[in-house]
Amino acid sequence: MTFKAKALVATLILVAGVAVAADATDPTVKAWQELMDGNGAATKTLGGMAGGKMAFDAAEAEQAKAALIDHAGAIAAKFMTQASDPASKASPDIWTNWDDFVAKANALSTAATALDVTSMETLQAGMGAVGGACKDCHTKYKLP
Ligand code: HEC
Repeated sequence: MTFKAKALVATLILVAGVAVAADATDPTVKAWQELMDGNGAATKTLGGMAGGKMAFDAAEAEQAKAALIDHAGAIAAKFMTQASDPASKASPDIWTNWDDFVAKANALSTAATALDVTSMETLQAGMGAVGGACKDCHTKYKLP
């Protein structure tokens, strides 16, 4: 594996590894976190394959890609209503910068849709944009 691929995989595992950190009780917040856990799971699969940690399987990659597109497309609708929960890491800035938040969700949709899962190499080529889209939104709208 090249250094670049290794760095990419480390980043993706970091992003996916945030999962199960929180345990909200508010139903709206729970839905956000479940949606994001779905993003985490799909990214873990795709990142694992891109980094050679998991055997490349085109059908499985296609499924994870479809899940990622689905989840990305649901972000705006799920976050539209502001809610709060002590376990939530959602920044209140989401609702004062709504258009920018939606643009970041759309950027993830675009990156996920562009993923070419026909081979490990093409998957590797597309995963940087996916990881970047996760990170871009988390940096601004997910509290540490
Ligand atoms: C448009 C913004 C946005 C994008 C894009 C985004 N996220 Fe998130 N993510 C959030 C916010 C906001 C939270 C905090 C939710 C909360 O705790 O209420 C979060 C939380 C999470 C969590 C923690 C969930 C939990 O159970 O606490 C994981 C895992 C996660 N995101 C993974 C990802 C991955 C992987 C991607 C990219 C494939 C991604 N996210 C893309 C906004 C985004």
